[in-house]
Amino acid sequence: MVVATKKILQITDTHLDEKSTTHGHNVYDKLAMVFEQTIEKKDFDLIIFSGDISDKGSLNSYEWLAKKTENYNSKIIWMAGNHDSVDNMKQVFNLPFLVDIEENKLNYQLNLSGINILCLDTNDKLLSDNQIDWLIESTDDNTIIFIHHPPITCASPFMDDNHSLANWKIIKEKLSTISNKTFRFFCGHYHQESYISYQNIHLFLTPSTMFQIDRHKPHFQIANTLSGYRIIEIFEDKSFKTYCDYIFIT
Ligand SMILES: [Fe+2]
Repeated sequence: MVVATKKILQITDTHLDEKSTTHGHNVYDKLAMVFEQTIEKKDFDLIIFSGDISDKGSLNSYEWLAKKTENYNSKIIWMAGNHDSVDNMKQVFNLPFLVDIEENKLNYQLNLSGINILCLDTNDKLLSDNQIDWLIESTDDNTIIFIHHPPITCASPFMDDNHSLANWKIIKEKLSTISNKTFRFFCGHYHQESYISYQNIHLFLTPSTMFQIDRHKPHFQIANTLSGYRIIEIFEDKSFKTYCDYIFIT
C-alpha cells in the first residue's frame, strides 16, 4: 500500500483587512474556523499561504495572523499576492526559505523529504525573466510549484479577461515547449476550485477562505460564501492526492 508521507495545507486569498470584515465578509472569523477544522485537528508538515493574505497589505492584518499561527508546529510559507505589501510581510513574518533571485520579491524553495517545492512571487502581477529561468532550471520530476496567479488561462472569463498574469502568454508558450519537464502548479487568486491542463502544464486552482467567484460569468459575481482550502497528500513514490474542502459559516 502506498502511504502518504507528507501533508500540505494550502490556504489562499484570506483578504484580512484592518477592520474585522472585508467588504462585509467576516474574514477573520472564517479563517479562524478553517484553522479550527484543519491545523488544530491534524498535523500538516507544511502550510502555504498562497497570497492575498491581506486585502490592503496592512501591518495589523499580518500581525494578527503571525500571532494566531505562532504555536503551530508546521513549517509555514508566506506568499505575496497582488493585494499584499511585500515590505510589511517582511517586517512581520519569519521567511526561512527565501531564495535570493529577485530583490524585493518573496520567492521560496524548500525540500520536503525529496519533494522540491518552489514558490513564486507575483505581487507585481508578472513573473520576471529571472523568475521564469529559475522556475525552469529548478523544476525536476519531484517538483510542485505554488504561485498566486495562474500562468495559463482557466476557462473562467471574468478572471481570465480582467485579472490574469500580465505575461501569461509568454510563460505558457515557454513552458509548454519544454517537453521533458512537467509543471505542476497550485494557485489562488481566482477564488474558485478547478483543475486545468495544457500539454505538460497541470494547474490546480484553490478556493478562497473569503468567498468564491462564479467561474461561468463574464462579469464579477460571487458564487457562494463558503470558506475553502486545499489539502495535498504526497506519497512515498512522489505521486499525490489533492482535494478541497469547504466550511459553511453563517
Ligand atoms: Fe489575487
